[in-house]
Amino acid sequence: MTDTLRLAAADAPRAAHLLAQGELVAFPTETVYGLGANGLDPEAVAAIFAAKGRPQDNPLILHIPGPDHLARYCAHIPAAAYDLARRFWPGPLTMILARKPVVPDVVTAGLDTVGMRCPDHPVAREILELCQLPIAAPSANTSGKPSPTTAQAVWEDMAGKIAAVVDGGPCAVGVESTIVDLTVAPPRLLRPGGVTLEELGEVLGPVAVDEAVVRLMSTGEKPRAPGMKYRHYAPKAPVTVVRGEPRETAAYICSHLRPGVGVICFEDYVNLFPGCPLRSLGPEGDLSEQARRLFEALRWFDGQADVTAIYAQSPDSGGLGLAVTNRLNKAAGFHIIDL
Ligand code: TXA
Ligand code: MG
Repeated sequence: MTDTLRLAAADAPRAAHLLAQGELVAFPTETVYGLGANGLDPEAVAAIFAAKGRPQDNPLILHIPGPDHLARYCAHIPAAAYDLARRFWPGPLTMILARKPVVPDVVTAGLDTVGMRCPDHPVAREILELCQLPIAAPSANTSGKPSPTTAQAVWEDMAGKIAAVVDGGPCAVGVESTIVDLTVAPPRLLRPGGVTLEELGEVLGPVAVDEAVVRLMSTGEKPRAPGMKYRHYAPKAPVTVVRGEPRETAAYICSHLRPGVGVICFEDYVNLFPGCPLRSLGPEGDLSEQARRLFEALRWFDGQADVTAIYAQSPDSGGLGLAVTNRLNKAAGFHIIDL
């Protein structure tokens, strides 16, 4: 057991110092909280896998202060990478690029590519500027749990296991970064996130969407983002996603209520479920709010011992909806009812 420090945003210099010394520090980004370590220190990176209980074959992404650091760690960088950086960095976009030998094997799980991201959060930016190191950082949850969007959620998973948690308030985006693989033609979306597929297309032209984004991978299949094969974001009670016109999906869920059923729905329909264990995703039309609230909703149900099944309304998959529905569908193991 480690005595985990609770740090405030103003303590970013202390967090940077701990990271440079090889310690693990959880810090806020605009997407979700990350569990950081010096990405050039194989022992520190190995400690991330231990603290999360993360499978060894699941690579980590490196966080850098800006696009001028890309060439330190990546080879054969296409012009498109700098085009994307100009438009979306700092921000919720991770690019997969060919790696240079300086990146330790433990970071990339032996792949010859590496994920690179420049986050947009004042605390993350200050830490990266002070360290001048690539910080390896997966989401700061125990493997298999929803990603943490508050310092409190990090604390629940990581207290006693890491040196410090920096509290920078709730995350503005709420789902993890978009991952695009630039080592293939056409570029391929491996994970939808805060930068939408439509926005990527404005810079890149046609973008392929990896199968793992939209359907359950069967055992034996190998998605290109190794992490996409795991049943992430899984609350203890099984989730059923109900897809269709919101008024109809709300009515469907209503007709399936019984003791032990929990509901995830849009704010517009809360009144239909009096007395039910319920989390609202926010207004039907507000995808940003739905993205911000989804992981906290899933985590909340893990604390509800009497909930044995969860029904969830689902937004459409356009824009940020692709990321929201991807996380929701994965939480449900792609158990989806289409109305
Ligand atoms: O928003 C985010 O990206 C957050 C914050 C903390 O920056 N980080 C994050 O990291 O979500 P993580 O480790 O939870 O998810 C990274 C995903 C995993 O699914 C992993 O398999 C994939 O990226 N990945 C990492 N390196 C890769 C590579 N070289 N090729 C393909 N996929 C890769
Ligand atoms: Mg993660």
